[in-house]
Amino acid sequence: MKFYIETYGCQMNVADSEVVASILIEHGFIHTKNIDEADIILVNTCSIRENAETRVRGRLKVFQQIKKQKPTIKIGVLGCMGERLKEELLKQEVMVDMVVGPDSYRLLPNTIHKLDVEKVVETTLSDEETYEEILPYRTESNGISAFVSITRGCQNFCSYCIVPYVRGAERSRSPESIIQEINGLKEQAFKEVTLIGQNVDSYRYNNFSFADLLELVARQFPALRIRFSTNHPKDMTDQLLRVVASYDNICKHIHLPVQSGSNKILKLMNRGYTREQYLQRIASIYKHIPDVAISTDIMVGFCDETLADHSQTLSLMKEVGYDFAFMFKYSERSGTYAAKHLNDNVPEKEKIRRLNEVIALQNELSYESKKHDVGKVFDVLVEGYSKKSKKQMMGRNSQNKVIVFDAHHNTCIGDVVKVKVESFTSATLIGKIYE
Ligand code: SAH
Ligand code: SF4
Ligand code: F3S
Repeated sequence: MKFYIETYGCQMNVADSEVVASILIEHGFIHTKNIDEADIILVNTCSIRENAETRVRGRLKVFQQIKKQKPTIKIGVLGCMGERLKEELLKQEVMVDMVVGPDSYRLLPNTIHKLDVEKVVETTLSDEETYEEILPYRTESNGISAFVSITRGCQNFCSYCIVPYVRGAERSRSPESIIQEINGLKEQAFKEVTLIGQNVDSYRYNNFSFADLLELVARQFPALRIRFSTNHPKDMTDQLLRVVASYDNICKHIHLPVQSGSNKILKLMNRGYTREQYLQRIASIYKHIPDVAISTDIMVGFCDETLADHSQTLSLMKEVGYDFAFMFKYSERSGTYAAKHLNDNVPEKEKIRRLNEVIALQNELSYESKKHDVGKVFDVLVEGYSKKSKKQMMGRNSQNKVIVFDAHHNTCIGDVVKVKVESFTSATLIGKIYE
């Protein structure tokens, strides 16, 4: 049987799809990237905002057409939306054959075999499952860079967020299993790993902290580039920043979601820090790692957000001078604290207006950040060809900025080359190989 898998949502889902592929291949299933060949279509889903689910439903309509042509095909919904809706999803989307949540992927081979007889829903969450000994099959990868998950779940319960409900309690993987997985990647000639978790700073295995883990990985794999995401302002330590500063192979990029610049809103969000504490963390990052790039997540239009709160977000953005940001408007998720106890009272039109304002400001800040890079020389890990031309290649520098440059005939994907930045567009830096 051949399976096809499509992935939505965050890096955790990308990593999970690779675990799913590994489990299925181990049980004799064959992976295909061609949907027309598939006997099983799997879609790994996200519930973070309403529009994430709308996108999945759009894809399910397409799969339904495929199933009309080929009635034997099975359709499975994996991941967070499956976990959220459970049996309900089978009622809403009649062509779906199975729903399997994030902690039930080991059951997949069995579940698929049952589908000829009945539809199946498996959504029990676990306090222990980390899939720790399963070596992910890198379906989604470019062969250069891979995600390695170090924790699963989240128990911060930010009041707006669905993740703790669909991903369960937080668990950390053993350092040994993480090292073993990275070792496998090194042997397959991968050049970069990103350690991922909803809050990497709360990684803890016995007495081993995230800073300890990062240092261990950096020492053990001097030839690999090491990234990590996501940091949490309430938990990120100076010890971690010292580790980042001490090792050349640890990339100088910190993603530190702020969400809002207003203390009132941060409190309603249950984020666990104030604006002042957040800015103190930023100061500490710049102090320890002067050449760092800092990115963030920002959410506008949360419950009771006034214009004064909103302008606090804008002023914080300017104060930090983010290199990059992901920006969203609040989307109420049923079951969360905010949905039960707070009032989603910023009108949709006003949310859009505030979002556009935040985006426009970030465009200015990103422009400044890139302007600052012109004339500098960076080590760039080559990831592939530029979208526009085969004569140009693209990669990222330590700061995670994309750089496009004219390829030399001997430049290969996976090389690290020195590139001097000469100009930039709205999305990328443009440079020349520098000898
Ligand atoms: N664990 C990460 C965030 C994961 S979700 C952290 O705590 O920073 C990624 C981003 O989606 C969040 O940072 C937030 O900005 C956004 N997000 C989460 N829930 C949302 C909601 N209900 N509506 C809009 N955006 C949301
Ligand atoms: Fe959601 Fe907060 Fe956990 Fe991030 S830390 S996944 S925003 S609950
Ligand atoms: Fe989405 Fe689940 Fe990630 S809700 S953001 S795929 S943890």
